[in-house]
Amino acid sequence: MTVCVEQSVHDSQVENKNHTDDTNELVLDGEFVVPDAVVNGDFDCPEVNAFGQTFRDYDAETERQKQVEECYRLNHIHQTYEYVKKMREEYKKLDKLEMSIWECCELLNEVVDESDPDLDEPQIEHLLQTAEAIRKDYPHEDWLHLTALIHDLGKVLLLPRFGELPQWAVVGDTHPLGCAFDESIVYHKYFKENPDMSNPAYQTKNGIYKEGCGLENVTISWGHDDYMYLVAKENGTTLPDAGLFIIRYHSFYPLHRSGAYKHLMNEKDTENLKWLQIFNKYDLYSKSKSRVDVEKVKPYYLSLIKKKNSDGEDWRQ
Ligand SMILES: [Fe+2]
Ligand SMILES: [Fe+2]
Repeated sequence: MTVCVEQSVHDSQVENKNHTDDTNELVLDGEFVVPDAVVNGDFDCPEVNAFGQTFRDYDAETERQKQVEECYRLNHIHQTYEYVKKMREEYKKLDKLEMSIWECCELLNEVVDESDPDLDEPQIEHLLQTAEAIRKDYPHEDWLHLTALIHDLGKVLLLPRFGELPQWAVVGDTHPLGCAFDESIVYHKYFKENPDMSNPAYQTKNGIYKEGCGLENVTISWGHDDYMYLVAKENGTTLPDAGLFIIRYHSFYPLHRSGAYKHLMNEKDTENLKWLQIFNKYDLYSKSKSRVDVEKVKPYYLSLIKKKNSDGEDWRQ
């Protein structure tokens, strides 16, 4: 997803060059800055991806901007703690439809993400562009290639067969509920009308959570991230933790772009966040116009899907 001028822009110590000081709206300069945290340890995170591109250009002039802002306005008004609890319970049942991963990739072509100001290509191209770019730079991390392929499949929630949820309940940046809305969240001003604002328990930095409790214990706004996480988990995926973390939090830009809510993370989250920040650069990359020959790369991804289905294999061999 992306940030709308605010949507999803991401990143942390990333100087807030993507947000203005008081409105929290993105300054659309199209520049993506790699957070310092990513450049630590064993993670080699290049300034630009293998194709030499940077991303997430929320062009303030784009014709889609108003649509994006409206999507966030509704998101910020309607996503409450109770709403998310209810949606998780409902969709955890996984009673909508059964299909293969590749079928779902193709089905996603019917979806248009209104929160994304610059993604016009079919969704399957976005998935494959992201995966192929990562594959080129990280050829041995095959689990990451598959993670990229499936990370946005939760957007099927927009389709009638999956409940035809409104855009504000499927796409866009995500954020925690049950604690204060951080200023770094895009279009923060629209939270004024959110019913949770009248609950004193949700207005502090930690809210109903304990510091260091771990993100898995934090309720995050409902959307395609959490849904795909539930689908993968309930289907017994063998993807490593980092893969599931990427799927579940890749739209959590206040965390991985602005560094907000880190006080709720535990040690495992800190490790996984490094991979998410690497992944995010390639997710944004999909905005490029490079085309992927779907039929040509399909056999490789089918082999990964098959591997995913076989128990006990080590994804990081
Ligand atoms: Fe996404
Ligand atoms: Fe994506």
